[in-house]
Amino acid sequence: MYKPLESDKAKPMGQGLKYFIETWGCQMNEEDSEKLAGMLKGMGYEPTPFKHQADCIIFNTCCVRENAELKVYGNLGMLKKLKEKNPEMIIAVCGCMMQQQGVAEHILKRYPYVDIVFGTHNAWKFPEYLFQAKRDKVQVREILSDEQRIVEGVPVERESGLSAYVTIMYGCDNFCSYCIVPYVRGREKSRTPQAILQEIRELIAQGYVEFTLLGQNVNSYGKGLEEPVSFAQLLRMVNDLPGVRRIRFMTSHPKDIDLEVIRAMKESEHITEQIHLPVQSGSSRILNIMNRKYDRETYLDLIRTVRRELPGVALSTDIIVGFPGETEEDFSETLSLCEEVGYDLAFTFIYSNRNNTPADRMPDQISDEVKHERFNRLVEVVNRKAMERNEALVGQIHEVLVEGPSKTNETVFSGRTRTGKLVNFPGDATLVGQFIPVRITRANSFNLYGEAVEHSS
Ligand code: SAH
Ligand code: SF4
Ligand code: F3S
Repeated sequence: MYKPLESDKAKPMGQGLKYFIETWGCQMNEEDSEKLAGMLKGMGYEPTPFKHQADCIIFNTCCVRENAELKVYGNLGMLKKLKEKNPEMIIAVCGCMMQQQGVAEHILKRYPYVDIVFGTHNAWKFPEYLFQAKRDKVQVREILSDEQRIVEGVPVERESGLSAYVTIMYGCDNFCSYCIVPYVRGREKSRTPQAILQEIRELIAQGYVEFTLLGQNVNSYGKGLEEPVSFAQLLRMVNDLPGVRRIRFMTSHPKDIDLEVIRAMKESEHITEQIHLPVQSGSSRILNIMNRKYDRETYLDLIRTVRRELPGVALSTDIIVGFPGETEEDFSETLSLCEEVGYDLAFTFIYSNRNNTPADRMPDQISDEVKHERFNRLVEVVNRKAMERNEALVGQIHEVLVEGPSKTNETVFSGRTRTGKLVNFPGDATLVGQFIPVRITRANSFNLYGEAVEHSS
């Protein structure tokens, strides 16, 4: 349990001061940033959208691919001038990059105006670091290699009022050969169902209706808990909480998703028809070298089962192109798999070497030119299939949870279907937060357009 620290109690510490947090990477980092914001608010700080107005800047970093890291370094360089103007400003850098050997030291040396660095296992100690940096005017650094405990009860400052991410497990045990996540996020640790349900109840009381359960591999949820609970059981427990309207979850590793989960989805009203099943490659040979523990045929069987059991299900995936040793033939198997599955959404990535991962040391690294050329061909297939899937929805009526006005036009509102698709339609502010039927009138690869249908609620 998170206990308020001395520095928390010293409320005036942040009174009248502002913070700015920039977050790169996945929802794991988003969640940590929400906690950091919660702690800063607890100390009296207020948020600002402008770096130059901030008294405390936090960069929460990601290192899953090289370009994520490059962005962080670019942004760090730009803080030098701000710090010169406001020497009292505190700059903290945290997140996955800090867990890589030598990175924290490098940052403290190369960017001496950085005051605090900490890793992914101890974000909850941030108030202590802030207090120390301000009091002693020294660079504060604490990186832990892993953490057995899960610290519950850290205050959270969330942005939207309808949909919330709820982390159910931390870390990853899979060690896919290209991936750095297990090294920077540590071993799998599941939160207890009690803690998860309590958090969701509190969110419901604040008006949240849609919940996305998060973990790097949610299907192995429950391992190591004193009273073992499977992911399927957890899903059913969340479904039974009064006030829950929609449940999503990610990520499902194809090797671990089982019939129990599919049955829970089928039998539970609020679990939506949407699954993210990262395939990574369509070639069994490459999947083996990636250490994914399934092959093309098992994956396609799984897709057939899911489609049969959950009609109308939306399927999304992650794909890597240019993994070491990927031949034109391997790549064409990825293309044909995409043609065959017809994903609603696919996140496509160019393989990026990550230090100290097995794939980094593999022979036959693919040239940038070939990677880019394959990437473009893949994007063409993926977008065309997504377009076909979306066009097939034209004429249908879907339940949409209205989120708010669209970014570009105040009379156009947007919301999501149960399957997670973004729909734009003419509307007004009274609809925000409601579930309304919308007839789909038009589609492209990424969005749907529609019109609200008269309804009685
Ligand atoms: N736990 C999730 C995803 C975590 S990272 C899963 O297993 O699917 C999100 C995605 O980033 C991965 O699915 C993968 O497609 C991509 N990715 C991870 N490491 C990468 C690397 N070194 N180069 C390119 N893409 C990578
Ligand atoms: Fe990375 Fe694989 Fe774990 Fe996903 S399952 S986080 S890709 S090691
Ligand atoms: Fe990036 Fe860390 Fe997530 S490396 S993708 S922020 S777990």
